[in-house]
Amino acid sequence: MAIRDILTYPDERLRQPCKPVTDFADPGFQTFVDDLVETMASGPGAVGIAAPQVGKMVQLLIMDCSVTRRPPKGHHGQVICVNPEILSWDGMETGREGCLSLPDYTGNVMRALDLSIQFQDRHGEERALSLTGFEARVMQHEMDHLEGRLFIDRLVSRKADLFKRKVYQKSRRG
Ligand code: NI
Repeated sequence: MAIRDILTYPDERLRQPCKPVTDFADPGFQTFVDDLVETMASGPGAVGIAAPQVGKMVQLLIMDCSVTRRPPKGHHGQVICVNPEILSWDGMETGREGCLSLPDYTGNVMRALDLSIQFQDRHGEERALSLTGFEARVMQHEMDHLEGRLFIDRLVSRKADLFKRKVYQKSRRG
């Protein structure tokens, strides 16, 4: 396993849509999943990471909300999502987000409060998951990465909703 370098804004690779994963038996893919897990763990307090953040343009993301100081009630722990799709969503909520690829900023972003998704696990098995609140937010943030979208694209106003980190916060980034 290896820790990969994280691309930061404005790297153009963060702006490209990712391809679906089709060959789950490829040992290179399985090694890459392990690398991404390790890379996420090396970013202190990171709750999510997406493959394009290390320059691999495939539809793979990892979410783990158990690593925060106050993990959300009923969280799902580590979830490895391949080829995720939104089945349904409901409600809206504004909340603060950060990103490993924008280490110096946080921003207020509106997201769906409840989210149902389908995806494949790292071995290609079909899965479905219903998420709410913070986990739903993290999932939407990471799924955006797979389409070349960053949280700064979703700010209502850069002036009012983008914040420079005063201190290096070790939590809630993806
Ligand atoms: Ni991010």
